[in-house]
Amino acid sequence: MKISFSKPEVPEGAAVVVGVYDDRKLTPTAAQLDKQSKGAIGRALAASRFKGRPDDLLSVLAPAGVDASRIVLVGLGKPGSLDALGVQAIGGRLVANLANSGETAVAVAVDDGADQKLATAEQAAHLAYGARLRAYRFDKYRTTEKPEAKPSLKRFTVMCSDPNAAKKAFDPLQRVSDGVFFTRDLVSEPSNVIYPESLAQEAQKLAELGVKVEVLGEKKMRELGMGALLGVGQGSERESQLVVMLWEGAPDAKNKAPVAFIGKGVTFDTGGISIKPAAGMEEMKWDMAGAGAVIGVMHALAARKAKANVVGIAGLVENMPSGTAQRPGDVVKSMSGQTIEVINTDAEGRLVLADALWYCRDRFKPQAMIDLATLTGAIMVSLGREHAGLFSNNDALAERLLAAGKAVNEPLWRMPMGDAYDKLINSDIADMKNIGNRYGGSITAAQFLHRFVKDTPWAHLDIAGMAWTEKDSPVVPKGASGYGVRLLDRFVADNYEEK
Ligand code: BES
Ligand code: MN
Ligand code: ZN
Repeated sequence: MKISFSKPEVPEGAAVVVGVYDDRKLTPTAAQLDKQSKGAIGRALAASRFKGRPDDLLSVLAPAGVDASRIVLVGLGKPGSLDALGVQAIGGRLVANLANSGETAVAVAVDDGADQKLATAEQAAHLAYGARLRAYRFDKYRTTEKPEAKPSLKRFTVMCSDPNAAKKAFDPLQRVSDGVFFTRDLVSEPSNVIYPESLAQEAQKLAELGVKVEVLGEKKMRELGMGALLGVGQGSERESQLVVMLWEGAPDAKNKAPVAFIGKGVTFDTGGISIKPAAGMEEMKWDMAGAGAVIGVMHALAARKAKANVVGIAGLVENMPSGTAQRPGDVVKSMSGQTIEVINTDAEGRLVLADALWYCRDRFKPQAMIDLATLTGAIMVSLGREHAGLFSNNDALAERLLAAGKAVNEPLWRMPMGDAYDKLINSDIADMKNIGNRYGGSITAAQFLHRFVKDTPWAHLDIAGMAWTEKDSPVVPKGASGYGVRLLDRFVADNYEEK
């Protein structure tokens, strides 16, 4: 779907979208079209339950007196009530409504005036952003889909008084959505296509945007002593990889400690010898969504030339059962020197992150580290699929992340940590074990990670419930959500960029 901005003028044969405020108060463009169509809008409103609330949508097909193939009325709520997220959601809903309608083009009128929260150009840009995020499809493996089943909508035009200003405001948003799409693509791919080496190759494409990318193989990781990460991958035919990405966008790049993002990249999680049940195991192709989000946000930051120094690290392994796989009860030594008794080989993400976090801290001395991981099923028991879990050793950092999540509608909920939980992972034979008892599974997982970050300001986002969605939402079609990319991009923009 191609997105553009133009002056107000309805392209012939296209659907035209106009806003209607709460209590059916027409925007100027809506009023004008109502007049032109001899009251078609007023009659349609009277015949429907459309009130003008933000999720109201009503199509008036083939109205007389206007060139448009249909007029779509979209609710704007009370004048002045829409914020960026509200406008994005409208863009997304319009795409969902029109994608398979038979329309090939739509033009949306954004009127000057009444919405004081956002300038007209900003409204136009966020409308386009929401539309673009929702129009995403992962259809490369569908070879027999009939043309009439494919989306008809090809062009999305936003009409406003200053299309150049809108285009300018849209540019960084478009680049961020490119990062989101990169993540969604990687997470959607099956595990015969995306495995540690092929995922590392995908990350290497970021070099085109000016990101420095290094890939460490097993030999190098063995030299570094990464026994925790390597133990997880040792049952797989595929070689484990550690990807290091550097974006040095701060003006005095050399003198500024970076902020670091670290992602769990288990390209397939069978559970290993502690094997998972067959039902639903195919979902474990997206157990690399943390790494996918880190790669996607590096893409977004580089593409929009963020003025910040950011390190991205992805720990990539495949967790398989085999004759070489690690066994329950094995003791491994992490890069930090701490030893771990592996009670359950399905608690593998924390083993991967243990070495990735330690390596990051050791090499980059970052001012903050944030890891993203589809770490525990337990976080879905706690929070459902509406919030990701936030764990942190630093209140200020936690507040910044909560604010960023709110601003982009990728919500977080802070979870507790503390010594009483930490004790639960003490082992009788090693420095720690990789699982706690039956309860508080997400928290003991976070406590485990905490032992590898020490006093570095750190936050852990357990995104197991958010990386994949079973139902459409306004700007996220069902499937891989790309969760974390918009959140971390915003977190960098608000806190680490030189203005
Ligand atoms: N990748 C899973 C967590 C997961 C489950 C993510 C469902 C997304 C959907 C993780 O590696 C895992 O297996 N965790 C175990 C931990 C347990 C063995 C302590 C879990 O949550 O059951
Ligand atoms: Mn697992
Ligand atoms: Zn896993």
